[in-house]
Amino acid sequence: MKKVVETIFVCKSCGNEFSKWQGQCSACGEWNSLKEITSSQLRVTSQKQNRQKAGREEIKAVKLTELTGKSEDSSIVIKTEIGEFDRVLGRGIVRGGVYLLAGEPGIGKSTLVTQILGKVRGLYVAAEESAEQIGMRVRRLGLRADDFEVLETNNSGQVWEWVDRVQDVYDLVVIDSVQMFYSDSGLGSPGSVGQIRQVTLEMVEMAKKKKIAVMILGHVTKEGDIAGPKMLEHMVDTVLYFEGEKTSELRILRVNKNRFGATDEVGVFKMGEKGLSEVRSGEINMVGEGEERVGAAVTVIIEGTRPMVVEIQALVTESFAPMPKRVFSGIDYNRGQLLVAVAQKVLSMPLYKYDVFVSVTGGIKVGDTGADMAVVAAMWSSYKNQPLTKTIPTSLEKGGLVFVGEVSLLGEVKKVRGWEKRVKEAEAVGRRVAEMKSVRELKKIG
Ligand code: TYD
Ligand code: MG
Repeated sequence: MKKVVETIFVCKSCGNEFSKWQGQCSACGEWNSLKEITSSQLRVTSQKQNRQKAGREEIKAVKLTELTGKSEDSSIVIKTEIGEFDRVLGRGIVRGGVYLLAGEPGIGKSTLVTQILGKVRGLYVAAEESAEQIGMRVRRLGLRADDFEVLETNNSGQVWEWVDRVQDVYDLVVIDSVQMFYSDSGLGSPGSVGQIRQVTLEMVEMAKKKKIAVMILGHVTKEGDIAGPKMLEHMVDTVLYFEGEKTSELRILRVNKNRFGATDEVGVFKMGEKGLSEVRSGEINMVGEGEERVGAAVTVIIEGTRPMVVEIQALVTESFAPMPKRVFSGIDYNRGQLLVAVAQKVLSMPLYKYDVFVSVTGGIKVGDTGADMAVVAAMWSSYKNQPLTKTIPTSLEKGGLVFVGEVSLLGEVKKVRGWEKRVKEAEAVGRRVAEMKSVRELKKIG
């Protein structure tokens, strides 16, 4: 009888399985990443895994009634006493919860978790930095070194082992960062999708079994993807994004997914010499005093429940390219396109032959249609080459105008949520909301 040896091909990068070899993994797009594995090898690994699992603990279904007391245990909330952080999460960190803190390199993730560990019983698992470097940061932040425990490793199994050995001394374990970690049972090198997935799976298991909160730090690319993509978001309980422009001190903590609370709150911080400090409501004014400038329009956006005064800047210049440029930073690309089209139609700006660049000060990402009007006003100001105070006679003698409102396809300006709050915030910085029913009113004055 012919012996049948089944083989499958596993992508070293993402761990997907295929029955045939192919040069490029059709799941993750990686080239030359498929590795041949025979069925006997597969059986060995799965048996080994089963044995490991079985050895760890017996399988047993749980009656919900047995859980009383236990479930409360897992819903214990640890307050970090960093108000902005606790508020974003709802109440604080939940025991057994797995948190993903994502952000661009250098934005301040390690700083934030160091400050959190200054407040809660925790372990810093450092794969990127040495314990000495973390010690230096702890001192710089003015925190007590006695409160810190650092585990230098990039192997997820060692984290398990250590946590197992010390037994119940941590409320929080921080993994910095997931891209540097590997698991002995994962495929590929650290940072590959397969490893990121395996490491995260193991940390989720550890969090649930040990009833410890785990915070996983992850770098995101410029495009905003967590390197080792969306799948990570599905595996954790809560996804936090730490945003900001490195050239600006403002940092915004956003919650994208939250199994333990709402997702509509943001936390605001300032990065200073001594780390991150909380920014309270009413302190977020990204607009300087002085003359209004060409191409600039001030607006009040609302993030979570927080009003923020920000400036929208536009540069509208004649284009010499067959396809004029549209560059939006801090504003959704499709929203920007739409506003360009409305401006072209309603204000008769020949934008089809103009390059348009729009940005938001402070590196803030605006997800609030209340800023629409300011985007159009800024484009208008740049196109007309006149500051918005000069073109609008109704503006105050001192201070300036604030442009708020959602712009419809017809160019109507609609009131948005939190209107009163925005008006108040504008007044608080010595400005006034330009009352307009249509973007056409910009034209009447220009
Ligand atoms: P870090 O937390 O290391 O960023 P991440 O972990 O997201 O890569 O922060 C890096 C930047 O923050 C670095 O450029 C220095 C700056 N920083 C301060 O401005 N003040 C401070 O107190 C600290 C600790 C860092
Ligand atoms: Mg870091």
